[in-house]
Amino acid sequence: MSIKVKNNVHWVGKIDWELRKFHGDEYSTHKGSSYNSYLIKEEKVALIDTVWGPFAKEFVGNLEKKIDLKKIDYIIANHAENDHSGAMPELMRHIPDVPIYCTKNGAKFLKGLYHQDWNFQIVKTGDKLDLGSKELIFIEAPMLHWPDTMFTYLTGDEILFSNDGFGQHYASEFMFNDSVNQNDLLQESIKYYANILTPFSPMVTRKINEILEFNLPLDMICPGHGVIWRDNPAHIIEKYLDWADNYQENQITILYDTMWDSTRVMAEQIAAGINEGDNQVTVKLYNLAKTDKNDAITEIFKSKAIIMGSPTINNGILVSVAALLEEIKGLKFKNKKAGFFGSYGWSGEAVKIISERLNNSGFEVVDEGLRLTWSPDEENKRSCQKYGRSFVQNL
Ligand code: FEO
Repeated sequence: MSIKVKNNVHWVGKIDWELRKFHGDEYSTHKGSSYNSYLIKEEKVALIDTVWGPFAKEFVGNLEKKIDLKKIDYIIANHAENDHSGAMPELMRHIPDVPIYCTKNGAKFLKGLYHQDWNFQIVKTGDKLDLGSKELIFIEAPMLHWPDTMFTYLTGDEILFSNDGFGQHYASEFMFNDSVNQNDLLQESIKYYANILTPFSPMVTRKINEILEFNLPLDMICPGHGVIWRDNPAHIIEKYLDWADNYQENQITILYDTMWDSTRVMAEQIAAGINEGDNQVTVKLYNLAKTDKNDAITEIFKSKAIIMGSPTINNGILVSVAALLEEIKGLKFKNKKAGFFGSYGWSGEAVKIISERLNNSGFEVVDEGLRLTWSPDEENKRSCQKYGRSFVQNL
């Protein structure tokens, strides 16, 4: 399968319809994904990135139908991670001497992954590669999201090949942003940003501003996953600048787990308290034992504040809450406030544990949280509502 992108640029990647978990079990891909590879057939022929290893033979077989592999002059490896480089060993078996253009770290990482002494050509920002009447220009983009990452720009066609940047885990037979469901596309784009790029937001801002200063005309952004930004590519750049700038909506997200429903009742009563005022705030509740963790992280990303709850078990917290707290720690959220709650029987450490962990993860702790014993009676429910009311007032 190949799809014409523009003029002599063709998508030659793989749509992975079945994928439901990515990075091992780390990232849920409800809508599958794609591994995008692009073939540019000018006077010189360049291949940008490959696909994940399980699809290596299929990828090379399809590529052979599109072009005699010996006619490929250059391979561009924008990023060494396995989902983009996995088919390289199979491809290089056919064309072992073709130069691979990548960053210094790219060469190091590819050697570390595949233990092959391929013909690596190290490039830096501003280096160019002549394709005939058009050129490729390389732009290093370290930590977006690996130290090796780079973008590649094609003059003439004015296409930025951005690899993971601006990507989405979104399988679609329609490979362009103007041809797919816009709500799905936005959801998969923001989920991708929230779960993968949040810790690197300062670099996102710096890199986008650096690229904008080049004043390169931009007709399309071709990412390494999902659909191509053909219609108004500036829109997703604006979104990224927005998301990178301590993004928040007028949303409070309540995340909890519960053993015998007491903490769930607390969550719902706190939500009722928040909703009482005329504050226009969106309140969302998620039981973490029943919620996909990447979806929960996306909701945290959108929130100006979260309230997290767990009952106390064995002087600790429930594992679904602990797992999310571990994820949150690495994501380095900024500009978000946090409250806490939980039901307990006798020791009741959960609220303090959650509070300490969120505080250590950069959340601003707004109060001491709300602890209640056993199941909430009517007075306890009123306490929860009061907690919700004062929480939202204090934001
Ligand atoms: Fe960082 Fe799509 O791999």
